[in-house]
Amino acid sequence: MPKWLLQVVLLTLSVSSLSHVQSSHEFEEDDEINKSQFPKDFLFGTSTSSYQIEGAAFEDGKGLSNWDVFSHTPGMVNNDENGDIADDHYHHYLEDVKLMSSLGINVYRFSISWSRILPKGLYGDINPTGIMFYNNLIDNLLLRGSAELIQAKQGGTVGIIAHTFMYEPLRDEECDKQAAKRALAFLIGWFLDPLVFGEYPAEMRSILGNQLPRFSPKEKSLLRGSLDFIGINNYGALYAKDCYLSSCPPEAARPIKGFVETTPMRDGIPIGNQTAIPRFCVVPKGMEKIVDYIKIKYHNLPMYITENGYSAPLNQSMTVHDILHDFKRIEYHKVYLAALLRAIRKGADVRGYMIWSLLDNFEWNNGYHIRFGLYYVDRQTLERIPKISVQWFASFLNKTSDSNIEDLSRKYRSKYVTTTAVV
Ligand SMILES: *[C@@H]1O[C@H](CO)[C@@H](O)[C@H](O)[C@H]1NC(C)=O
Ligand SMILES: *[C@@H]1O[C@H](CO)[C@@H](O)[C@H](O)[C@H]1NC(C)=O
Ligand SMILES: *[C@@H]1O[C@H](CO)[C@@H](O)[C@H](O)[C@H]1NC(C)=O
Ligand SMILES: *[C@@H]1O[C@H](CO)[C@@H](O)[C@H](O)[C@H]1NC(C)=O
Repeated sequence: MPKWLLQVVLLTLSVSSLSHVQSSHEFEEDDEINKSQFPKDFLFGTSTSSYQIEGAAFEDGKGLSNWDVFSHTPGMVNNDENGDIADDHYHHYLEDVKLMSSLGINVYRFSISWSRILPKGLYGDINPTGIMFYNNLIDNLLLRGSAELIQAKQGGTVGIIAHTFMYEPLRDEECDKQAAKRALAFLIGWFLDPLVFGEYPAEMRSILGNQLPRFSPKEKSLLRGSLDFIGINNYGALYAKDCYLSSCPPEAARPIKGFVETTPMRDGIPIGNQTAIPRFCVVPKGMEKIVDYIKIKYHNLPMYITENGYSAPLNQSMTVHDILHDFKRIEYHKVYLAALLRAIRKGADVRGYMIWSLLDNFEWNNGYHIRFGLYYVDRQTLERIPKISVQWFASFLNKTSDSNIEDLSRKYRSKYVTTTAVV
């Protein structure tokens, strides 16, 4: 397989060196955040993934991926939707690169569809049309990026992205405190410990014993210290409950779960404001804590927040007008950025923040009705319509920090005619 494929995990349009922000005062929770408070070369951007946006699932020599098959299995996805078309990014990529450029971002996380470039898997031929698509995409990102950045240059580093939650003990008891630690080992340590230390976490070894593979000395030395950066996807936090001593549902009381039950609810009250996804409650403090935890545990390797985003709770009376006026998304990003800033000021080497997602897209088994995008995508015409959060993010990135809700609304109304069709 071509070597560059391994390297384009994170494509940055600028090569950055970190300069920490010095601050004489503690950052206050309700201070208004602005871009200049972040380190000088901090990267801001958006995130997508191939199956969720590309479409063109059966075109130009692409093979079938697991998701092509899974989403066509009746009953697996809400409303039996699938990613055959998705946002048709495969045909709209020039337009999408333009959208990103006008936002003013300088980093974009995307993924490569293996079945598009290796249609028959690792041992078949490479699909040149697939390679061409990603080459064109990358070239256009660099071209657009270079218009705004002095030193635009393609950088290649190898990292891994961890999908994270922070865990709080459900009860104020030692066993739940231990459960919260185990939950982190089983979610994050499982992947990061081998790549940083050459070993699985002790918490996993003590529960799973020899069911967990053992690395040879040679494998250990290959693995150890093999990461350049850690990507962090973070949306919410959960409570952790011990399942050794307490009774739990059978799916939680299992070795592979670390004998931990995780839940967003305590006594019927969610851990933070609710979103469209029950386990993704709004807990900005959780991002601060998880960044702190990863900083301490993994020698403060460079970190990127590779996903963080908001999808409003669904209800029957929601209109397109409501979806476009996504004030709660703006509020979400502000409080998470403030939390991230607190972690950076305590010394975390965080170098970038990417919003999930650029566009509303195929949200896996939830289908299309759960929307994380800065841009709304009309499912009939595939037109990309900016939500009000686009205006907020663009002004945040342009350092004008024009985040006053009334100002944003006024400009937004004069710029875009909004429809009020029921979703
Ligand atoms: C950004 O925040 C800093 C620190 O609070 C402040 O000094 C500066 O004036 C702010 N800049 C803008 C453009 O609001
Ligand atoms: C939670 O929702 C309330 C009510 O809408 C709001 O005032 C508050 O700012 C929200 N908190 C966070 C952390 O988003
Ligand atoms: C439904 O969603 C709309 C738009 O977000 C909101 O204005 C309204 O209050 C919500 N209704 C209920 C019952 O939550
Ligand atoms: C950034 O702000 C300046 C000053 O308000 C404005 O002239 C410029 O057009 C803005 N740039 C973008 C990309 O929005």
